[in-house]
Amino acid sequence: MNKEDYVLCGENIYKEYILAKNLIGKPIKVFKSVKGIELGVKCGETLGVVGESGSGKSTTGEILGDLQKPTSGNVYYMGKNISEMTDEEYRKYRGDVQFIFQDPKSSMNPKFNIYEVLKEPLITLGIMSEGEEMDNLIKDYIQKVGLDEDILNKYPSRLSGGQCQRIAIARALIVRPKVIICDEPVSALDVSVQAQILNLLRDLQKELKIAYIFISHDIGIVNYMSDRIAVMYLGEIIETGTADEVFATPKEDYTKKLISCALI
Ligand SMILES: Nc1ncnc2c1ncn2[C@@H]1O[C@H](COP(=O)(O)OP(=O)(O)OP(=O)(O)O)[C@@H](O)[C@H]1O
Ligand SMILES: [Mg+2]
Repeated sequence: MNKEDYVLCGENIYKEYILAKNLIGKPIKVFKSVKGIELGVKCGETLGVVGESGSGKSTTGEILGDLQKPTSGNVYYMGKNISEMTDEEYRKYRGDVQFIFQDPKSSMNPKFNIYEVLKEPLITLGIMSEGEEMDNLIKDYIQKVGLDEDILNKYPSRLSGGQCQRIAIARALIVRPKVIICDEPVSALDVSVQAQILNLLRDLQKELKIAYIFISHDIGIVNYMSDRIAVMYLGEIIETGTADEVFATPKEDYTKKLISCALI
């Protein structure tokens, strides 16, 4: 793969978990979660990653966002190996690559009100200090995700799942990322709220030109959201292509099965 083509990519990624060691500490039981993954997302596009539970989707996403280290293989951001970055380059990468998770409530500090939830990344990444400029920016992003300013004084425990996911989206967006890794962002939401959140993500992508890595077990949702799709099975990518190709003319039986389940 040509790393320069992608804003974020992984090359030959393996992840093994040691499940048991013998008395001298040698691994005797190892689980291979991800086996030789190569994938990348281009500027402004959505790469969908789909596969059944346990196929290694979250592991792959977390490795691309450096939430966990691969056993072997490399991650490149803007063509640069993240393990060879200077502190400054790495700090930029951490700001430029954001996450949205399945359960937004558990990804927020329950002691923070929503203003503080949105303030935290701005302070941590050294983007701005407290003051009028920050207040205006936070209000701006609250509006962008379709919420009202009075939500800023509330605590995550008081919000609905859909409101919380909108806050999680605002928190990811407020640092002006280049890539958002969305790991099952609507799986915990009611069907009617799912559509609202998916459309919000699509509208914001058009406006802000962000790349998404969109992880889901539902190939129907992945097809709706993605330009290209990678299908994962038992830790490997077994099929890739444009969303139209993969959805209309799947090559692998496994992909066909995922599609027939989605159409029920
Ligand atoms: N810390 C760990 N120790 C051992 N095995 C792990 C660990 N984390 C993940 N695994 C295993 O690695 C495999 C891939 O897990 P992963 O969470 O990436 O799957 P997934 O495709 O995201 O599944 P889901 O759709 O359920 O979220 C699973 O079999 C899982 O049990
Ligand atoms: Mg997962």
